[in-house]
Amino acid sequence: MKAYDFDTLYPRRNIGAGKWRLLNDPATEANQAVFPFSVADMDFKAAPEICDALHEAADFAIYGYFSPEPAYYEAICNWQMRRYGFACQPEWLVQVPNIVYALYQLVRTFSEPGDGVIVQTPVYAPFFHAVERQQRRLVINPLLEQDMHYTIDFDDLAVKAADPTVRLMILCSPHNPVGRVWTREELLAIIRICQQHDVLLIVDEIHADLVFEPHRHTVLASLDDEIADNCMICTAPSKTFNLAGLSVANLIIPNETMRRRYLASENQIGIHGANYFGTVACQAAYEKGEPWYLALMSYLAGNKDIFAKTVRHQLPQFRITPLEGTYLGWIDMRALGLSEQERLSWLKAADLHFVTGSFFGDAGIGFERINLALPRPALQAGLDRLIDAVEKLT
Ligand SMILES: Cc1ncc(COP(=O)(O)O)c(C=O)c1O
Repeated sequence: MKAYDFDTLYPRRNIGAGKWRLLNDPATEANQAVFPFSVADMDFKAAPEICDALHEAADFAIYGYFSPEPAYYEAICNWQMRRYGFACQPEWLVQVPNIVYALYQLVRTFSEPGDGVIVQTPVYAPFFHAVERQQRRLVINPLLEQDMHYTIDFDDLAVKAADPTVRLMILCSPHNPVGRVWTREELLAIIRICQQHDVLLIVDEIHADLVFEPHRHTVLASLDDEIADNCMICTAPSKTFNLAGLSVANLIIPNETMRRRYLASENQIGIHGANYFGTVACQAAYEKGEPWYLALMSYLAGNKDIFAKTVRHQLPQFRITPLEGTYLGWIDMRALGLSEQERLSWLKAADLHFVTGSFFGDAGIGFERINLALPRPALQAGLDRLIDAVEKLT
């Protein structure tokens, strides 16, 4: 395997990287060693193959109106086939600037104000926002947790989906923040319920590539043609290849009528043209980024194991989910007996910044989400700091 450097920490202060701004006092020496474990991007440089393509595009230096060539769509389809055996067709693809935008647009296009939209909590907060900020009704199907293993409450889902005002379900697959990679059987059970009650599925697969052995991601639309006809998949190179700042993502909408409806609704809001650099980076990532991606996964698996081992041996008061996918750990800190405000003040004083549980809805209260996609020495230093902070507390 080609060697890539994931161990070097490149500070991202003063270049607009939001999570680096959270530090208390950037001047202190301690602060140089550890940085926030919050926003879900990675503190690794992008694959050299992507950087080369971007340099070439920058050097060309004509940045006029732009739309992707067929090779862009082929690169996405080839990735889907190679990684997931999914025969995605180029004409099913719609490029969008990012997934959160697409979630809003999909909800707006395929439901009316007042309609119900199912989400499974705890979950990434923009799922709530896309529903509630557009005057739709949030219908919660809480995930079940037992010994930090999360599963789906299918009985509850069947009841919620049977409500005739429920039109949509937004599924997070793999799931942020609980780290589950839904099995084929779980996905089929969701689909059966949704089909029975005419509930359309929006599936956010932004974390699809970030799955650890022996787990396997299943692209929902790959299950069969009828399923493909009733779902809309959100996919992006942004998490996998650390390209979130380049504003590029892609929807897969196999059903032609639904795709036309989506495009018509996008037409109403003045979006036109694509981001040149985002498009170039996305194509290069899917065409040439696989060796870097495989090396990344092996590095992330190492970080995940260090995190699990450290919590098991040195932070026994915390419980964590076994991470099947995503680079986001989910820590139950309820044993500390602190309120969320107290916990935040305590973490802030220790210069530790996670994403606090309530961001993911009430089901997340008492938890913190930790981003593990960072150079290992920084991860280790951050965990040491957490151990130290817990010792001082008790
Ligand atoms: C499930 C999920 N969807 C979407 C996003 C954000 O995607 P984008 O930056 O493309 O809007 C994230 C980022 O953390 C996420 O976890």
